[in-house]
Amino acid sequence: MKTQRVLTGITTSGTPHLGNYVGAVRPTVRASRLAEVESFYFLADYHALIKVGEPARVQRSTLEIAATWLACGLDPEKVTFYRQSDIPEIPELTWLLTCVTGKGVLNRAHAYKASVDKNNAANMDPDAGVTAGLFMYPVLMAADILMFNAHKVPVGRDQIQHIEMARDIAASFNHLYGEHFTLPEAAIEDHVATLPGLDGRKMSKSYDNTIPLFAPRDQLKKLIMGIVTDSRAPGEPKSTDGSALFQLYQAFASAEETTAMEKAYADGISWGDAKQVLFERLDLEIAPMRAVYDELIQEPARIEMTLKAGADKARAIATPFTARLRHAVGLRPLQAALAPAANKAGKSMAPTFKQYREQDGLFYFKLMDAQGALLLQSTGFAAPRDAAQAIARLQREGNAALDPLARQIASRGDANALDAALRSFSEPGV
Ligand code: TRP
Repeated sequence: MKTQRVLTGITTSGTPHLGNYVGAVRPTVRASRLAEVESFYFLADYHALIKVGEPARVQRSTLEIAATWLACGLDPEKVTFYRQSDIPEIPELTWLLTCVTGKGVLNRAHAYKASVDKNNAANMDPDAGVTAGLFMYPVLMAADILMFNAHKVPVGRDQIQHIEMARDIAASFNHLYGEHFTLPEAAIEDHVATLPGLDGRKMSKSYDNTIPLFAPRDQLKKLIMGIVTDSRAPGEPKSTDGSALFQLYQAFASAEETTAMEKAYADGISWGDAKQVLFERLDLEIAPMRAVYDELIQEPARIEMTLKAGADKARAIATPFTARLRHAVGLRPLQAALAPAANKAGKSMAPTFKQYREQDGLFYFKLMDAQGALLLQSTGFAAPRDAAQAIARLQREGNAALDPLARQIASRGDANALDAALRSFSEPGV
């Protein structure tokens, strides 16, 4: 069974708030603990440049968001957690995809269209103040997703169109150059609540109505006391319907606690008391994570190291995959042009093992796919026989040999391609 690859990115343009936590961080951290998924989470800092022109803010937000994910329990050993701008293959793939993306498709992207509509309404030039970065946003996002051949992309509803574009772009590329990309699907978490903000509208940076997730305890309390309510007096029954206070409480409370709060509303709890209960309940969940966050944020160097280790893991996939894509589109070493005619486009050859000796005197092997992309790279063996035995075992046992041989494997390429290549040896004719 192939494991599901789940990938999502967070633009590093602000300070994480309760809405981000309930809508994205909490469900994602929980999902990442499931055994059968392979998760990729990254800080979309290239995307941040589209909206934010303040370098210090991009940097600060990157630090805060990384610290938030770690404080909320994301395990960088289990998932691949990295920063987009640490993967130079992403902008490279962006260009390859740009060349198969219809300009008309991008004209229809919601974010770009909204800017144009606004300009038109104001009788301005349609593209006034619109950068090519905003226009290209969906292609950069497609590169994020397709680089790791993600199956599922958990996002908010506002991002569905981008995932559909990534699918279309992947299909165009596959059509032109062969089956390289998995077609991704959006995973919309229908049961996670959209949190209301201080003013009752959706909690969002753009409404300036957010409650920062890791605001200090006394500031959290002050903000909660400022949530809008109606003017019903203590003792008067209150409606939970449309009550921002109640929705916030519900997002953190258990079913029993929620029922008790419903009853308190009916019994006429004062708004002041209801706010106090909400504050205590929120702080109960947040305080332990806040303590970790406050520590982490003091140690940016540690976070930097974690992200660099994540980038290494991500690049172990991205580097060989990009080599394969470069080859696919014709960015190839020139001597390959003289390769035998049997190697015609479309007719793929079998994957092959190559055994060789390095300058260090040790014996190595690698597995390459039909196009010459690296799928598996061994560590050095003292004797050629040992390398040959490892190859024989991989050919015989296929994927099952990967774990027992883990210590002899220095890096792996694209997981799907590796899986297919090993099967072609261990299950010939399937
Ligand atoms: N555009 C996403 C947002 O603003 C962030 C993002 C960038 C993303 N690249 C991605 C999300 C890839 C999912 C997959 O929410």
